Amino acid sequence: MKVGHFFSSPFYRLRIAHRIKDVRDSLDKVVVDGNKFGLERMDVSVERREMTYSHIDALDVIGRDNEKEEIIELLMQPCGRGEDGDKGLCVIPIVGIGGLGKTTLAK
Ligand SMILES: Nc1ncnc2c1ncn2[C@@H]1O[C@H](COP(=O)(O)OP(=O)(O)O)[C@@H](O)[C@H]1O
Ligand SMILES: [Mg+2]
Repeated sequence: MKVGHFFSSPFYRLRIAHRIKDVRDSLDKVVVDGNKFGLERMDVSVERREMTYSHIDALDVIGRDNEKEEIIELLMQPCGRGEDGDKGLCVIPIVGIGGLGKTTLAK
């Protein structure tokens, strides 16, 4: 109910109306700039990223035993509570350059 009231409140609608107007204004400006600099329209195809899933054949993974144990250890720890005393959400980041094996480790 709280969420419903918030989104239907005049205050929220006014704010969104302003935001939409801002976006339209900035798009208009992009068109003007495009004409000014003689930019041409090009159709580009957006490549979709391949779908991923969590299954992995452990036999294909070399090493990573220590890292795996560390992550399981972190996952088993109780997660902190949110501000209102509700259940918190914990995130464990795995950081590194591309191709390092982050996704494989997460799986
Ligand atoms: N421990 C590992 N043993 C064998 N192959 C691995 C290992 N870690 C990653 N790979 C392989 O290396 C490639 C890149 O790994 P990936 O997890 O996608 O990296 P990242 O997510 O960090 O970009 C994949 O083909 C993956 O199968
Ligand atoms: Mg990855």
